[in-house]
Amino acid sequence: MTHVTIGHLAERAGVATSAIRFYESKGLIASVRTAGNQRRYEQSTLRRVAFIRTAQRVGLSLEEIGEALETLPHGRAPTKSDWHRLSKAWRPRLDEQIERIERLRDRLDGCIGCGCLSLRTCALTNPDDTAAEGGPGPVFLEPHRRRTT
Ligand code: FES
Repeated sequence: MTHVTIGHLAERAGVATSAIRFYESKGLIASVRTAGNQRRYEQSTLRRVAFIRTAQRVGLSLEEIGEALETLPHGRAPTKSDWHRLSKAWRPRLDEQIERIERLRDRLDGCIGCGCLSLRTCALTNPDDTAAEGGPGPVFLEPHRRRTT
């Protein structure tokens, strides 16, 4: 099994070494240590980092990303079909995320140039005068927090 240094992994993935250490601290990737206590990563970790970065870009949480990565096999490098299975299982979640982003885009149209962020009238903070019941924050972006009645 080929192992690479943290610097090599970071460079190939296009991220800072601090990001690699952060992902490791969150349990999203793992390393082995050399006799000199230096980190070494399996070559296949590169794909995991690429997956993490991509999922983060579309606004998915590290927790969700971690859950998805947990479905990959342990003790061996994931195969192409393992990644395909993960991707297929995640499709509904990605569709939901796309829907949220589209909703954000549509509502931003009305809010750009306004900036009031009124809790009573702003489409961003209170899309249908019921969002306040869901608590603070961009409730409309989180359908599970929106009132359904
Ligand atoms: S920022 Fe004013 S209505 Fe949204």
